[in-house]
Amino acid sequence: MKGIVLAGGLGTRLFPLTKVTNKHLLPVYNRPMIYYPIQTLVDAGISEILVVTGGNNAGDFLRLLGNGKQFGLKHLDYTYQEGEDGIAAALALAEYFVDNDLVCVILGDNLYEKSVRESAEDFIKRGHGAKIHLKKVENPQRFGVPIISGERIMKIEEKPKAPKSDYAVTGLYMYDHTVFDIVGTLKPSGRGELEITDVNNAYIDRNDITYGIVDGWWSDAGTFDSLLRTNILVASQFESNSQEISQDAIRASASMLRQQ
Ligand code: G1P
Repeated sequence: MKGIVLAGGLGTRLFPLTKVTNKHLLPVYNRPMIYYPIQTLVDAGISEILVVTGGNNAGDFLRLLGNGKQFGLKHLDYTYQEGEDGIAAALALAEYFVDNDLVCVILGDNLYEKSVRESAEDFIKRGHGAKIHLKKVENPQRFGVPIISGERIMKIEEKPKAPKSDYAVTGLYMYDHTVFDIVGTLKPSGRGELEITDVNNAYIDRNDITYGIVDGWWSDAGTFDSLLRTNILVASQFESNSQEISQDAIRASASMLRQQ
């Protein structure tokens, strides 16, 4: 299975932090944000990874990541997304790279506490369709939200005002190569983007989608508050002897944030 990290966009929700850099290069505790999703793919056993960047700072990714040596990779691939036409449009740029293989797509601002290796292995065994990863959240209206009936997902609604479940569809998706046929049929949404939610709904219509529940914390880092939350959750995992900040305070905050 190939891996794709989607790290384009202008990060307007984080302006002015993103005025002179790309959102995915901002710090999350002691590493640039993009390190975490790359590590998640590597830990899942994926070694062929394409980073899709965009905006004015794409060259910085190459300087930062090079060939991915710090992740134990032999090489990393890159491509450039012109314009702001959405997650699914960014995915379309990966068609040549994925070819007939399966693909695991992760959003560059989504961080996962625990390994997703088991889920990836299960999907490889299944070998077709799609798999999404859900997490119970306090504020589902910020995310894609599934309507679940028994074991089945009936539909996913993107940022619904009145969510029909308290789960978010997190930014980790596994697809077979027919995803590129689906992307080709999509029409821009109200916000002018090709939506990943529409891709997933197409797999629901085909009755060829499964889901997993994310183990441990999951956090996106695309808003000021979620970036702060993510920093605290990550910081709580490190042992630090610093006198400047109490580890107990960080752990206590993190433990409250994990409930959310
Ligand atoms: C995107 C997806 C949404 C998903 C979220 C996860 O939202 O559209 O379905 O729940 O990522 O972070 P966006 O960050 O584009 O608002």
